[in-house]
Amino acid sequence: MKHLQQNSSNLDELSAKERVIYSRLDKERLPGHIAIIMDGNGRWANRRHLPRFVGHRRGVQTVRGVVETAARIGLSYLTLYAFSAENWKRRPKAEVEFLMQLLRQYLRQEVPRLNRNNVRLTYIGRIRELPESVQERLKWAEESTADNTGMVLTLALNYGARTEIVDALRSIIDTARNNGGFEHLDIDEDLVSSHLYGRMPDPDLLIRTSGELRVSNFLLWQIAYAEIYITDKLWPDFEGTDLLHAIADYQGRERRYGGLTSSSNEQHESSLGNASDDGEAAIAFLAVRK
Ligand code: FPP
Repeated sequence: MKHLQQNSSNLDELSAKERVIYSRLDKERLPGHIAIIMDGNGRWANRRHLPRFVGHRRGVQTVRGVVETAARIGLSYLTLYAFSAENWKRRPKAEVEFLMQLLRQYLRQEVPRLNRNNVRLTYIGRIRELPESVQERLKWAEESTADNTGMVLTLALNYGARTEIVDALRSIIDTARNNGGFEHLDIDEDLVSSHLYGRMPDPDLLIRTSGELRVSNFLLWQIAYAEIYITDKLWPDFEGTDLLHAIADYQGRERRYGGLTSSSNEQHESSLGNASDDGEAAIAFLAVRK
């Protein structure tokens, strides 16, 4: 299984509370890539009898805090689901316009902070369908942070995982056409992965806020073996300490990638070793699988 080089960290800048949680983490087993479904801005505002846009504004403050904590602990990749392809079609026009304006504002304000934290910004999604002014700002922000060598922050914008897979399929077909047909192409998982939008490793940990038990068309191919962490906290209430709690929870999991846990593997091998014929081996196998 691929192991990621951890980025250099800037732990002095963690808050006192964050430092306590971080000190208990196994630094050798930090996830390399965390993806987050940021959910609950609207509910956060509703509970306070405030308009939804206030929730989105608070949501941006949370983005800032979480990005900084992630960069400070040396995380390599952070991917945030900022705007789904469905948001675009199903939300009132005024809310979509507000989110676009918020994004433009975020990019303008954040680039200096991203540079200070050595964060490189990139995007996944059908960016070309976004308003021209947003595309220009996105390009500017990407270019302004392109030389940073620390964490890669990917914003999923006008993103849908099924659309991504359709686009990958189209791109594979184009590649085949331009290179003498399909006979010259090895069609395997690596090929599909290499035609997806981003150039990043699969997420190790998927976090979703606001308690919904859904993956909402986010990184469907890439999260095949991700650990999933759901918190009831609404996105505007999520803090750096919550990110670190999620990492602690992740470290308590045993990742199996379709195999056995290391303890049941030992048990499995010793029971098969003792079995003297196929019948006994089958019984031992079933006992372990129970
Ligand atoms: C869900 O809240 C969140 C979103 C629509 C996207 C997240 C957007 C932000 C955090 C702000 C913009 C981000 C950047 C990077 C500028 P919701 O409205 O679905 O909440 P609800 O389910 O409670 O209604």
